[in-house]
Amino acid sequence: MHMKSAVLAALMLGVSSFAVHAEMAAPTAPPEAPKFDAQGEPTFVNRSDVYEYKALDAYSEPAWVTAFVDAGKLPPLADRLPKEPLVYKTANMVDGNGVYGDVMRHVIGGRPEGWNFWAGRSYGWGGIDIGLVECLTRTGPLFEINSTDLQPMPNLAKSWDWSEDGMSLTVHLIEGAKWSDGDPFDTEDIDFYWNDVVMDPEVTPLMGASQETYGAGTTLEILDAYTFKMTFTTAFPEAVLYAMAYGNFCPGPSHVLKPKHPKYGGESYEAFGNAFPADYMNFPVMGGWTVVEHRPDDIVVLRRNPYYWKVDESGQQLPYLDEMQYRLSTWGDRDIQAVAGTGDFSNLEQAENYVESLKKAADPASPAKLAFGPRTIGYSLYPNLSANGWGEPDERAQAVRALNRDLNFRKAITYAMDRQRLGDSLVKGPFMTQYPGGIYAGTSYYDAASTSFYPYSADSAKEALKAAGLEDTDGNGFVNLAGGDDLNVVLLTGSEYATDKNLAEGVVAMMAEVGVKVTLNALPGKDLDDARNSGKFDWVIFRNSSELITMVQNTTALAPVGPTTDLNHRANAAGEMDLLPYEEELVSTVNAFIAERDPAKRVELAKTYQKVYTENLDGIGLVAYPGALIINKRFSNIPSGAPIFMYNWAEDNIIRERVFVAADKQIGAELHPNTLPGAPGDAGPMSN
Ligand code: GLA
Repeated sequence: MHMKSAVLAALMLGVSSFAVHAEMAAPTAPPEAPKFDAQGEPTFVNRSDVYEYKALDAYSEPAWVTAFVDAGKLPPLADRLPKEPLVYKTANMVDGNGVYGDVMRHVIGGRPEGWNFWAGRSYGWGGIDIGLVECLTRTGPLFEINSTDLQPMPNLAKSWDWSEDGMSLTVHLIEGAKWSDGDPFDTEDIDFYWNDVVMDPEVTPLMGASQETYGAGTTLEILDAYTFKMTFTTAFPEAVLYAMAYGNFCPGPSHVLKPKHPKYGGESYEAFGNAFPADYMNFPVMGGWTVVEHRPDDIVVLRRNPYYWKVDESGQQLPYLDEMQYRLSTWGDRDIQAVAGTGDFSNLEQAENYVESLKKAADPASPAKLAFGPRTIGYSLYPNLSANGWGEPDERAQAVRALNRDLNFRKAITYAMDRQRLGDSLVKGPFMTQYPGGIYAGTSYYDAASTSFYPYSADSAKEALKAAGLEDTDGNGFVNLAGGDDLNVVLLTGSEYATDKNLAEGVVAMMAEVGVKVTLNALPGKDLDDARNSGKFDWVIFRNSSELITMVQNTTALAPVGPTTDLNHRANAAGEMDLLPYEEELVSTVNAFIAERDPAKRVELAKTYQKVYTENLDGIGLVAYPGALIINKRFSNIPSGAPIFMYNWAEDNIIRERVFVAADKQIGAELHPNTLPGAPGDAGPMSN
């Protein structure tokens, strides 16, 4: 029996039966996920049902803002708005046109490092950056767009046309929109972003955009103040439109950034990055609110951007909310405060908090509403696959890299994972599902038949270790490296989230059970990002990003298609890659997917991707589960079925600029009432 199934497995995997050890369990179909229905379905619409660009007969703003105009401190509204503002359609707002006032009180676990996003400074996450930077296209709201109309939504780019052969794309920007300090937004900002950020090897923007993000060999040419053209090396690379959404093509204010860039007289790249520290106020933005106060480890306060370029159908300038606050605390505290009503918003994603949060939210008197979405929160373990120097490994780390590149070793890791137990250790109940890795179950490109799942089996793990040449030669319970020392793998993980740490500790324990010593290296925020991006890890546990949910967003992150696109395999200092044969297959599949316009062929390519990925354990899936959006009940216009994470985070998905609080529900929690952002760099806001 045993032999037969091993032979069968060998046939199924298309490898020689000699390579398969009789004792290793055969891969199976992925286990069924426990039933868990998302609460609230999106109302599906077409993109053009959400907003359009057009001039309205008249515009209005809060009376207290008009007082600034009357005092000669601000130009009249009509002069601050673009020729054709972005107009949100009333029919698509669940509660209709709103009223002004009130604040959204966020709580975040990150800390702002400065405002130079384009030189890699983080704002602290939790939606603060999503609200400050605006991008050429927008994808967060796509969760409610009909699949027949699925394409990025326009934003700062109001339209685009492909050339007939698909080799170039002409992009038209919104005309006459202004930065929050009144400076025009135009192709000067695009030129700076492309040539001095994306194409400058010394500058790495926060989410890592590089030329490869837009396709290797892609060029950009400015045509006039509001038009530019991109030229590609393949036809119709529609992924580029997704790469223009949040995280990537979100241009910065060139009028303040450029003078600090070394190419234009700036002192150094280091100085460029540090030129806009977290205490620099009124940094010009295209977003709905601008930073007017930062008290370290306490709060960041944002006030409405008087130049915001979006309005409702009645001509009211957005946003409706006058202020945004970000309390600087912990991610766990975000859940607690949102449920308690002292904070307004949380993405409930740390499973350890589910039971308590659910209990509190079930009380009809609870100030907050909690709604679970699809299972789009998932974690994987990624072995570092570079053996040619990425991250400058020492001798020990280099030995681990060699093992990581051996499929038998990766099998040992996956067989050692008791995912049921891992999931239960976070939260019991119907939430968790065992995650084989790769494309998530329940998403449109997922195909169970193309997914290999290596079931939990400590014996198989031990066999796989043997096959990788690892044995416990000194009898201390841990396998040894050829030279004699215990193999010791360092597992990098984040220290800011309970879930990351708990999962990592579970992995350490399970690896010990099969005889592999693993040491945790838990780092916060930027240290974690730096270690990960520079390849300074053996293994890393990571909460996955949108590419494994949507395939069409961040597509280049699905494989090492460029020197810096992949999470666990990047080029060495000389720019060289040392891809394994199966990685080459992933790369060609992803490139073909990017170049393919036929939906049926894309489905087939996604299947190939999933098959190659899960058979070869490119990333080792751990668990996947649903997250819940917690939002205070006083807010209106929260679209139903908004997932906490899909194309983007809920902070984008719920379209905060059109969220409002009815007059009788406003809580008077503004810290800077009747004030507007001042001049860039000034200590704070201007008031009447
Ligand atoms: C962090 C949080 C997420 C979300 C994002 C937004 O990663 O954990 O829930 O708020 O920030 O960028």
